[in-house]
Amino acid sequence: MASAPGWFEGTSLNTAVLVPAAGRGERLGPGAPKALRELGDIPMLVHAVRSLLAARGVTAVVVAAPPDGVAGVRDLLRAQLPAESPVWVVAGGATRQESVRFALAAVPADHDIVLVHDAARPFVPAHVVEAVIAAVADGADAVVPALPVVDTVKEVAAANGAETVVRTVDRSLLRAVQTPQGFRRAVLARAHAEADGFGAEGATDDAGMVERTGGTVVVVPGSEEAFKVTRPFDLLLARALLERRAERAAQARADEADGAAESTEIDVVR
Ligand code: CTP
Ligand code: MG
Repeated sequence: MASAPGWFEGTSLNTAVLVPAAGRGERLGPGAPKALRELGDIPMLVHAVRSLLAARGVTAVVVAAPPDGVAGVRDLLRAQLPAESPVWVVAGGATRQESVRFALAAVPADHDIVLVHDAARPFVPAHVVEAVIAAVADGADAVVPALPVVDTVKEVAAANGAETVVRTVDRSLLRAVQTPQGFRRAVLARAHAEADGFGAEGATDDAGMVERTGGTVVVVPGSEEAFKVTRPFDLLLARALLERRAERAAQARADEADGAAESTEIDVVR
């Protein structure tokens, strides 16, 4: 069957992924902007973009880089990605919300599905990206990948420098939301055009803005591997995950080599 470039699971809609990568990473401690810190000698942003390009249906990636580092990020991605990768780099803004808005303005015209993915989630599995795309292609206005909350969650009140518990929240209906979040392009554009009331920090996710404008947000299963690198402890987890993937890849290569040797033996026997 002939396929349009973005063909995926019965849709001919192209999907662009916006990658806000302009944050400083203050909670990670002093150093380069978070997206440019290295995990296994490769900047987090490069891992994230490779993870996205590995998903079926992704036909464009627009990175919002730290405003004073656009040329450097362009050079980095050019050096680290295959030639002709459909990746664009624009200057990000003062808040995540602003970075997403700037990236959205650079999406090529023929893209009707737009995902937003944090550069700080470098190891999102392709199946999560594909599930989000599929749910938008199925007709959802907005989609978030999410996991059940594992901790008991309590609401607190602060008084005289101490906190006391107000109540225990029913966690069975709570979800921890990840990225990529997916949208019909027009829905995301409207949410950003109409967004207000999020204060100086801006919205921390895009689906929240769609909720504000009355849209329905569909939930699909997330993945532990899509965790966000936020604090120094997360770097340990990221490096451990990289090591496990490297071991698995080495094992797969060894199995393949064994398989090749076996089939040669069979040939010889014949
Ligand atoms: N982000 C962005 N532009 C900003 C702020 C954040 O593009 N002005 C991006 C970050 O680069 C990150 C994503 O939004 O990929 C999620 O934000 P977060 O985890 O909070 O990253 P930082 O803002 O960099 O970290 P911190 O809040 O600890 O400073
Ligand atoms: Mg932040």
